[in-house]
Amino acid sequence: MSRSDDVLLQVVDLKKYFPITRGTLFQRVAGYVQAVDGVSFSIKRGRTLGLVGESGCGKTTVGRTILRLYTPTSGKAYYEGRDVFAASEDEVLALRRKMQIVFQDPYSSLNPRMTVSDIIGEAIDIHRLATSDRERAARVHHLLRLVGLSPEHSQRYPHEFSGGQRQRIGVARALAVEPSFLILDEPISALDVSIQAQVVNLLEDLQDELGLTYLFIAHDLSMVKHISDDVAVMYLGKIVELAPSRDLYLNPLHPYSQALLSAIPIPDPDVELKRKRIILEGDVPSPINPPSGCRFRTRCRLAQNICREVEPELAEMAPGHKVACHMAG
Ligand SMILES: Nc1ncnc2c1ncn2[C@@H]1O[C@H](COP(=O)(O)OP(=O)(O)O)[C@@H](O)[C@H]1O
Ligand code: SF4
Ligand SMILES: [Mg+2]
Repeated sequence: MSRSDDVLLQVVDLKKYFPITRGTLFQRVAGYVQAVDGVSFSIKRGRTLGLVGESGCGKTTVGRTILRLYTPTSGKAYYEGRDVFAASEDEVLALRRKMQIVFQDPYSSLNPRMTVSDIIGEAIDIHRLATSDRERAARVHHLLRLVGLSPEHSQRYPHEFSGGQRQRIGVARALAVEPSFLILDEPISALDVSIQAQVVNLLEDLQDELGLTYLFIAHDLSMVKHISDDVAVMYLGKIVELAPSRDLYLNPLHPYSQALLSAIPIPDPDVELKRKRIILEGDVPSPINPPSGCRFRTRCRLAQNICREVEPELAEMAPGHKVACHMAG
């Protein structure tokens, strides 16, 4: 297999700006929310990229734009080398079979009036993956077993399940069309801590068994630590650091990644006691009018004059370890 075949998804300089309109009768564009502002990354087949950052930094918009649920402002996405944004309607349907999304909130993402069988079966119907009711039911039962539920659950409604079980149903629904790539948009954020590890373990097992590739979105670095091969840290629409998971956790180079990591408690009480916490002051600035130069400068303890004037580029400091900071390296 050639090197380029290895890459399942490549995203190049992706931008998504949402227009802000004013006026009722004659709407005019008064500005833009720069939700995603020049994001590039690639994910190899069978691997997981963790995408992390505080709420509102653009993670969901990245995922939804790749799936063409939003029209990109500019940039490219290639799935198995094919230009996603240039795909025709028919091609989009085919791509949707390969790329699926699992949503954050297992309570609102399942239709309360549909049985589990119909929630999972809907996608089977849309893509005509079963030729008879029997085959459809057999597929649903197989999917339920795959996610650790029982075929007996198929005639029940979402409210009869716990949060963790509902998220398993969400995963089964995504897997119904036999995708190769899943965007997991904060799949464990809404779950009890005790349940989170179970769902992550399930996702890891499914990845091994089915050879899946993941974009795993989270607002907290601790959630993606074990599952990710690489981690991208986002701040206000941009990736500020991208590295193999181990490098990022052992040697974070961007002040924002350092602050996020220092917020994760360490199980060893002696280490925990001696450790310095980096407190992130203030709120994330508005993506409508982001700070000049480095977007993180209003909250950065290392900021200098240059940070106000010159935007730092995402530069490779060590093999595979990229960071956007004037003071790094
Ligand atoms: N459909 C939309 N229209 C306008 N603004 C949006 C829309 N979706 C998201 N945004 C804005 O874009 C920014 C990024 O949002 P989002 O991608 O949801 O962030 P995250 O998933 O990291 O919390 C936020 O400021 C959000 O308010
Ligand atoms: S470029 Fe400057 S403001 Fe931005 S993270 Fe680095 S030191 Fe901080
Ligand atoms: Mg989100």
